[in-house]
Amino acid sequence: MKIAIAGDHGGYRLKEEIKAYFAEEAVAGSTLGQAVVTDLGAFGDKPVDYPDFGAKVGRAVARGEYDFGIVICGTGIGIAIAANKIRGVRAALCHDPFSARMAREHNDANVLALGERVVGPGLAKAVVAAFFTTPFAGGRHTRRLAKLLALEQED
Ligand code: RB5
Repeated sequence: MKIAIAGDHGGYRLKEEIKAYFAEEAVAGSTLGQAVVTDLGAFGDKPVDYPDFGAKVGRAVARGEYDFGIVICGTGIGIAIAANKIRGVRAALCHDPFSARMAREHNDANVLALGERVVGPGLAKAVVAAFFTTPFAGGRHTRRLAKLLALEQED
């Protein structure tokens, strides 16, 4: 599983925590640890603009360069909106593991959005674990997913 991660200055510290979490899971030999995580920036906490980073991850996922994305800003809201502007992206802002599981199971979300100023690193890691260990359930959700994709074709 290839994952692109990015965030603005408001998400920089949490981005580093999440990268460290994947590295720890790799050492532990867990399934989550098999993910290859690529950092697309920002590479410091100097103020930058969240749309640039939401779009960067969204485009990379939409092009098929990565299976999934993680986008992080202060609230997770702006960067989720930015990622969702890219056709093919289904970014879900999740601040609890239940929402993260549902985002994958029901919505086949391919980008997870997080807000560093909303959740602590412990909860964020639990959200990441839930998101990346839950498959899309298919079934009745496939029809609804097709309707989401059809909306992208309007105009
Ligand atoms: C930056 O101050 C902040 O607006 C940004 O990180 C994010 O929360 C926007 O939605």
